[in-house]
Amino acid sequence: MNSLSPSSYAAELNFEYKSKDKKLRTVAIQRNDVISFLQGLPDNSIDVLVTDPAYSGMNNKLKLGKGRIVGKYSEKGADQAKWFSEFEDTEENYNLFLSECKRVLNKETGHIYLMFDSFSLLTLGALVREYFDVKNLLVWDKVNIGMGHYFRRRHELILFATNGNTRKVSSRSLHDIWDVKRIHNSKYPTQKPVEVFERMLEASSMPGFTVCDPFLGSGSAALAAIKYDCNFIGCDISEQSFNLCNERIQEFIDNNIDILEKSSKK
Ligand SMILES: C[S@@+](CC[C@H](N)C(=O)[O-])C[C@H]1O[C@@H](n2cnc3c(N)ncnc32)[C@H](O)[C@@H]1O
Repeated sequence: MNSLSPSSYAAELNFEYKSKDKKLRTVAIQRNDVISFLQGLPDNSIDVLVTDPAYSGMNNKLKLGKGRIVGKYSEKGADQAKWFSEFEDTEENYNLFLSECKRVLNKETGHIYLMFDSFSLLTLGALVREYFDVKNLLVWDKVNIGMGHYFRRRHELILFATNGNTRKVSSRSLHDIWDVKRIHNSKYPTQKPVEVFERMLEASSMPGFTVCDPFLGSGSAALAAIKYDCNFIGCDISEQSFNLCNERIQEFIDNNIDILEKSSKK
């Protein structure tokens, strides 16, 4: 886990917006470590948790093999050779993460979407079953191929589970392969399309629900939550992420403009 002491990075910003039915909704972001952020949330306070953790496993594997981490940050010297700090995905940390997710997720409504790369899915995915009722393994088909030394990667996996409840998804016609084009030339490394989070919320949210993403990155999940008239709370340990989310969320609320995906509209 990141070694910064909480006082050296904790920061919080709150926004409000009017939903389509003219209700006031809140969006809150923190610069914080995932565990201390989750530990600060009340029991049962989240309806839908959607997240894309910065797993360390895949990058460690790449370092050991012939692969290398590429991207703008890799050229900036040893300290910044990684795109961003990672959540050290030992079993111990992942169990702590999952137990906090379980505590904050509402027992009646709670749905959780956890994104995985293929490496982390095999090492950590099975642990999810100890906390949640796993319902689906969804495939995000990025349409265009990416990197890979053997078969080149075109998909990511999203594990969908409920928090011990039987709340269904919004429609019986939704299927488990989502074709949404990957983002090219993103401003934030590993920025995911807002549409991927929209698919999750289309299935699992209702207006006024509280959505949480504790690995915010560029804040794509926050924009999806606003589009679906939900309250939102999230965090990221990186200052770059916190500042970018601030700018992106504010501009979306004020002017309906997504500064990272220009074509996206509310
Ligand atoms: C894969 S990215 C998320 C990308 C995001 N879904 C998006 O669409 O932009 C993972 C994020 O986790 C953050 N992170 C790494 N370790 C963390 C920790 N211990 N606590 C909170 N955030 C952390 C990184 O700074 C990074 O922004």
